[in-house]
Amino acid sequence: MANEAADAQAYPMRGVSQPAREQTLNLPQVHISRHPVIAHKMTLLRDKRTAPPAFYRTVRELGALLAYESTADLKLEPVRIETPIEPMTGSELAGGVGIVPILRAGLGLAEGFREVLPDAAVWHLGLRRDERTLEPIEYYNQLARSNNLQVCFSVDPMLATGGSAIDALNILKRYGVPHLRYVALIGAPYGLLKLREAHPDVPIYLAALDERLDDRGFICPGLGDAGDRQFGTL
Ligand code: PRP
Repeated sequence: MANEAADAQAYPMRGVSQPAREQTLNLPQVHISRHPVIAHKMTLLRDKRTAPPAFYRTVRELGALLAYESTADLKLEPVRIETPIEPMTGSELAGGVGIVPILRAGLGLAEGFREVLPDAAVWHLGLRRDERTLEPIEYYNQLARSNNLQVCFSVDPMLATGGSAIDALNILKRYGVPHLRYVALIGAPYGLLKLREAHPDVPIYLAALDERLDDRGFICPGLGDAGDRQFGTL
């Protein structure tokens, strides 16, 4: 009995049924990148030989590329400017942009987003997954109420069981943050389906959709622990 309890803690996904990847490929408002540069950089991340400095740099680069993909439909408004030659009507983003990195693994992605969107406001949210229960625990919250945003991106490299993503979006909605989008590097079909069901109004952007979760709740083939690999705490 004691052994069974210890096993359940160590292997929380053991015996849990998971959807096949094909079943979650075409869910509504789910964008899975087809960009060759993203696929190339994802392979570098997945490779276990990639050390923390290159890993962190690549997460940042992928953050910038995903920012580019996930902002393709943002709204513009006209603005009058003068070029060195003559006046013209240009365009600027209509309304502000928010970025919410889910600590700590979301930090690298958020840095990449800021390279593309330097004026974005950044609100940190600390969620840590209890590795025995897989439940997310909130430990830091720097959110501000803001409703003049055109869009707010919740960014976190890994969508595993979906618990952290669902909690983060629940918290953001409680704060009244409008126009949410969720961005991750890798999703597992199980977490993707859970997130789609819990927050059907939030568009989801992934660099890749993997096959499954293992018994411990790790994404397979995945890339290991995105936080530890970014910050050298292996
Ligand atoms: C990882 C990851 C997500 C979460 C995903 O964070 O960055 O936040 O787990 O798992 P879930 O979908 O099952 O909730 P972790 O708890 O390892 O914290 P870290 O960012 O501090 O490394």
